[in-house]
Amino acid sequence: MDSFDVVIIGSGPGGYVAAIRAAQLGLKTALIEKDASLGGTCLNVGCIPSKVLLESSEQFYAVGHKLGAFGIKAGSVELDLPVMMARKLKIVKELTDGVALLTKNRKVAVLRGRGSLAGPGRVKVSNESGESLVEAKNVVLALGSVPVQLPFLPFDGGRVVTSTEALSFDKVPERLVVIGAGAIGLELGSVWNRLGSKVTVVELLPRVAPFADAMMSRFLDKALKAQGMDLRTSIKVAGAKVTGTEVALTTEDAKGQVAELSADRVLVAVGRKPYIEGAGLKQAGVLLDDGGRIKVDERFQTSVPGVYAIGDVIAGPMLAHKASEEGVACVEMLAGQPGHVNYEAIPNVIYTWPELAQVGRTEEELKAAAIPLKVGRSYFAANGRAKSLGEEEGLVKIIAHAETDRLLGVHIVGPRASDMIAEAAVAMEFKASAEDLARTCHAHPTLSEVLKEAALAVDKRAIHA
Ligand code: NAI
Repeated sequence: MDSFDVVIIGSGPGGYVAAIRAAQLGLKTALIEKDASLGGTCLNVGCIPSKVLLESSEQFYAVGHKLGAFGIKAGSVELDLPVMMARKLKIVKELTDGVALLTKNRKVAVLRGRGSLAGPGRVKVSNESGESLVEAKNVVLALGSVPVQLPFLPFDGGRVVTSTEALSFDKVPERLVVIGAGAIGLELGSVWNRLGSKVTVVELLPRVAPFADAMMSRFLDKALKAQGMDLRTSIKVAGAKVTGTEVALTTEDAKGQVAELSADRVLVAVGRKPYIEGAGLKQAGVLLDDGGRIKVDERFQTSVPGVYAIGDVIAGPMLAHKASEEGVACVEMLAGQPGHVNYEAIPNVIYTWPELAQVGRTEEELKAAAIPLKVGRSYFAANGRAKSLGEEEGLVKIIAHAETDRLLGVHIVGPRASDMIAEAAVAMEFKASAEDLARTCHAHPTLSEVLKEAALAVDKRAIHA
């Protein structure tokens, strides 16, 4: 029987990053994956293919709606969906092949099949050729998550779909209803909206992107509506009837008013849940928390000694980069190093256009915790680079502690917010103050100057306000 220092089950951004780091640290490492390619949801049917389609649809929209203002006449614009999808598959393949190469170069043993706990120090690998056992000093469960299904609207892969199918529609649906205005709903809703669907997003809570700072969520709501998306908040989907030709939804608003909403396709994006079935957790005695996630201690160890868990299967935001950080910290601790994840400085992004990005806490969370704060804001409309890009929509909002000036939250809606938030994450990692950001020299003209201006505005000394 092959024997390893660490066996990692699941090759998403949590598992494969953990495997490479473990191998770097000299641990004999195996990575078990049930799917045909490495990379998990993120690389195969999540973050990466969605970003490819977001970019394609943005380019398509720009040619049709934006280039005229730049003095470019593009003539008639045609959508070539098969080419768009082929580009997506090509990029996914390049990246998943890349992960396979990285693991090979690091001498990580990649075991194909479903991994499950099979008694102390043992992991079973099951595939079409049968079952085998490997010996593991330590096991890391990096099993990922699957979409949550609405009980009255089961996924059928055709009319009622998850994000996986919504990344591969063979034609632009005439009417697409999205249930849930979180990251998946808003991102994929905006892809198909730009490609020509009539998109309606139905959200249970009073605002879109409910995790975000309320002001930024309102801003995004307005921007997406202006692009033609029909966003309906405080709406419950009370029932559904799926026929051969459409889905008829019954919705109910906060006042109890009932309405009908029909669609050719419905994307259900109401959250994801840990994928823990078939991993032998119950038999092994791995305990779950009240939210159905695997319980771990500060070293990511589960209730079973030698069995660890990271990423979407444990508490916290279901984000690829959070999983990667946990994977690294977990195996560093296994190798005797002081691994650590700073949960206060994990950025969160929604890749709509404009993008929404944040790190740290929202104004509402800070007020609820009675933390004294001061706020600075600056708008992209006053920024020279944003103007030349034709991307003036959005703002940066910085929240600092009223007495210490320490950064508590940075929130951006705007062009390339996803890239800009990195500076704020670094600042928060170094426990910077708003003044630290304000006194840092930013290249001119860049979008990042809006961040500096917002930091100056915290102390009411913005230059361009
Ligand atoms: P989510 O938790 O981000 O959003 C789900 C939304 O559905 C929430 O706004 C919720 O209030 C709403 N909702 C729940 N039940 C509902 C119902 N019955 N009717 C109407 N609305 C309902 O989950 P989502 O978008 O499915 O994404 C799953 C996970 O994947 C999240 O943790 C998300 O952070 C992550 N993800 C991250 C991305 C990114 O970082 N850009 C992209 C895609 C997903």
